[in-house]
Amino acid sequence: MGLFGKKYAKQEYKVMAQAERAQGALQPEYHRATPECPHPERWHMYDSMTAEAEVLEFLYTLVTTIKPELVVETGSFLGVSTLWIAKALKQNGFGKIISCEYDPVVFTSAKEKLEASGLMEWIELRNESSLEMKIDGTIDLFFSDSDMPIREKEVERFLPQIRSTGIILIHDASSHLKTVRDAAFRMEENGWLSCVFLPTPRGLVIAQKREGRK
Ligand SMILES: C[S@@+](CC[C@H](N)C(=O)[O-])C[C@H]1O[C@@H](n2cnc3c(N)ncnc32)[C@H](O)[C@@H]1O
Repeated sequence: MGLFGKKYAKQEYKVMAQAERAQGALQPEYHRATPECPHPERWHMYDSMTAEAEVLEFLYTLVTTIKPELVVETGSFLGVSTLWIAKALKQNGFGKIISCEYDPVVFTSAKEKLEASGLMEWIELRNESSLEMKIDGTIDLFFSDSDMPIREKEVERFLPQIRSTGIILIHDASSHLKTVRDAAFRMEENGWLSCVFLPTPRGLVIAQKREGRK
């Protein structure tokens, strides 16, 4: 039986198949209303795994605004957010994004798409887990978008390497997707981060580390 025909196919594979069928068409956001974001239908998405279209635009603008030399993304999925960040790096004229995807099937698909984009000069795509990946240097922008239960561990792991003036983005922090929101509250309480909770459909935390602030 084919990969997408399995009765209990992974959610990532199901969404990959849906994304292939949609062929890049924008749809209304799927996430249900939350108290902080009562009209999710005002947002758009390509699929339910890729960040909301408006969040992709935000990533682009953030990169052209803060001009990072090193961006690290956890969870590439089909490489769409990687691509938006890479486009912004190209616009800046310098910088690199390292993005990791641990699922080999998803990784292969992302690699094909990114290689076809003509932007590989700005991208290092790795088939490894965020919890094992080694990064050299100081991170200016860290985008945490992998498996929800491990986001806190990811931030903890890379925190010492994140520049004190750098930005940490943590996706899927809506009050409905409680795991990540609670993790962000804990990271504030234990003094690691200062967080702002953007009221987007899936929730986006924009944070900075507390240590080293002047
Ligand atoms: C929400 S999707 C990423 C979406 C992507 N950032 C975008 O907006 O286009 C999450 C991805 O993280 C991957 N993933 C899960 N755990 C991971 C880990 N520990 N390290 C790297 N990738 C992981 C999943 O296979 C999935 O493809």
